[in-house]
Parts: sequence; C-alpha cells; structure tokens
Amino acid sequence: MIHVLTYAEIEQWVRDGKARAILSRKVDDMMVAVEDDELLGFVLVETDTIREIFVRLENHRQGVGRRLVQAAIDKVRVAGCPVIKVLVKAFNIPSNRLFQSQGFRLASITETAFFSHTLIANCYEKTLA
Ligand SMILES: CC(C)(COP(=O)(O)OP(=O)(O)OC[C@H]1O[C@@H](n2cnc3c(N)ncnc32)[C@H](O)[C@@H]1OP(=O)(O)O)[C@@H](O)C(=O)NCCC(=O)NCCS
Repeated sequence: MIHVLTYAEIEQWVRDGKARAILSRKVDDMMVAVEDDELLGFVLVETDTIREIFVRLENHRQGVGRRLVQAAIDKVRVAGCPVIKVLVKAFNIPSNRLFQSQGFRLASITETAFFSHTLIANCYEKTLA
C-alpha cells in the first residue's frame, strides 16, 4: 500500500535511520539544488551511473537540470571513473535532450521495466577527461 509521508513523518523517518538505510543501499550520493532554502531538484548517483534526476516543475528550463548533471559528472570524475552513464526512457524528450545537450552520446538501446510495461530506453555515456 502506498503511504504518503507528512513532513513530520519524514523527519521521524530520517531520525530512525530509515532514509539513510535506503540511500546507502540504492545510491552513493544525492545532490540537491537549492535556492533561498527551497529545494529545486535532485540527482542520485550510484558509482558511475546517474540513477535519477528530478527538477520541480515550476523550475523547469532554468538550467537546474544542467547544474545537477554537471555536479554528477564532477562527482563521478573525482571518483576516478572514466565514463558516466545514464538510462533514459525513449519517450522522455526533456531528459533525452538534457543529456544530449550535456555531451552524452547514445551508446545502446535497451528495454526497461516500467510497472507492468516494457519500455524502450536509451543508454547514454559521456567519456570523462
Ligand atoms: C529532465 C529534467 C530533469 C530537465 O530539467 P531542467 O532543469 O528543466 O533542464 P534545464 O533547464 O537544465 O535544461 C537543459 C537543456 O535540456 C534540454 N531540455 C530540458 N527540458 C526540455 C524540454 N522540455 N524540451 C526540450 N529540451 C529540453 C534543453 O536542451 C535545455 O537547454 P535550453 O533550455 O538552453 O534549451 C526535468 O524535465 C524533470 O525533472 N523531468 C521530470 C523527471 C524526469 O523525467 N527525470 C529524468 C529521468 S531519466
């Protein structure tokens, strides 16, 4: 059953260490974009792969996604990985355009599970100098 947490519940969740357990299992790092203490978006990175990127709708097309991708690139480069990767569903035009605009090249096309559906996804890579 889906349960939507209130802010107070999220605080308790963090205090109980549940958020940390999930983050440490799923990702190496989460970077957030903030402005005047407002959360604009986040990017999740696992080793050499961007697992998720999200920007609040009101802040789309303001360069927030680009900044988050650059932060992910910097992190993966500093970790010594030669390449950064991301899997993007083919229908997601904004995300495909975002990564293409940041120099990611299409390395392969695959299938990915999306709830009960199978969707085409683009595997992008960018070589890190
Ligand atoms: C994909 C997403 C992160 C882009 O974030 P954003 O902050 O709007 O992106 P930016 O403003 O940094 O855009 C950078 C470039 O990406 C491309 N781009 C971004 N959104 C686009 C859109 N809707 N249509 C076409 N190109 C787009 C453009 O090239 C843009 O440069 P420009 O504005 O100078 O033309 C955002 O749309 C989002 O959160 N979507 C919902 C979650 C999602 O789909 N995540 C991806 C999972 S893989």
